Amino acid sequence: MSESPHLVCASANPDKVAEIEAILAGVVELLPRPPDVAEVVEDADTLEGNARLKAVAICEATGMAAVADDTGLEVAALGGAPGVHSARYAGDGCSYADNRAKLLRALDGAGDRSAAFRTCVLVRRPDGSEVVVNGVCAGRITESERGDGGFGYDALFVPDDGDGRTFAEMTDDEKHMVSHRGRAFRNLLAELSA
Ligand code: IMP
Repeated sequence: MSESPHLVCASANPDKVAEIEAILAGVVELLPRPPDVAEVVEDADTLEGNARLKAVAICEATGMAAVADDTGLEVAALGGAPGVHSARYAGDGCSYADNRAKLLRALDGAGDRSAAFRTCVLVRRPDGSEVVVNGVCAGRITESERGDGGFGYDALFVPDDGDGRTFAEMTDDEKHMVSHRGRAFRNLLAELSA
């Protein structure tokens, strides 16, 4: 690898941090986000824009290369919504369960339940240079929740590259093999070692 294998994690979401740590384990050392840095307002209108806001804030605060991930769930029958608004789909302060309930209501009776998770990963270095990669996982939204694992919309999402189980019914490793985040971070590792 042509650069430091240390990256400061810019994500404040513990569910995502756990996944990123597992995917990068043994290849890149992920340093924890400094707790004294205020959470960034993610008000960009693209995943890449939000990833950049988070990575720049942590890079500037630490003077070290920082990595951020921003993810959206794009549902075809909803014109790509909730997309970049996936975290607050059911409103400010909403829970994962609120978001899943709103999604099921929005798709009530829908014939087309196809969807895709998209993750943008951005590394920002102190010299201002960046590495930007993406990962996509196509699938469909179930008609009811299935499984206890994972987080967010996992209990409603069946990846096309799977065996019919939702992400929440898979082990962590099974999810990472096909998920948007697994693909995006493996693309990052390929870029960093090129
Ligand atoms: P963020 O803006 O990247 O933190 O992600 C936006 C929202 O998408 C999160 O609050 C979760 O609800 C959802 N999300 C992100 N990644 C996943 C995932 O891997 N599975 C299920 N939901 C996810």
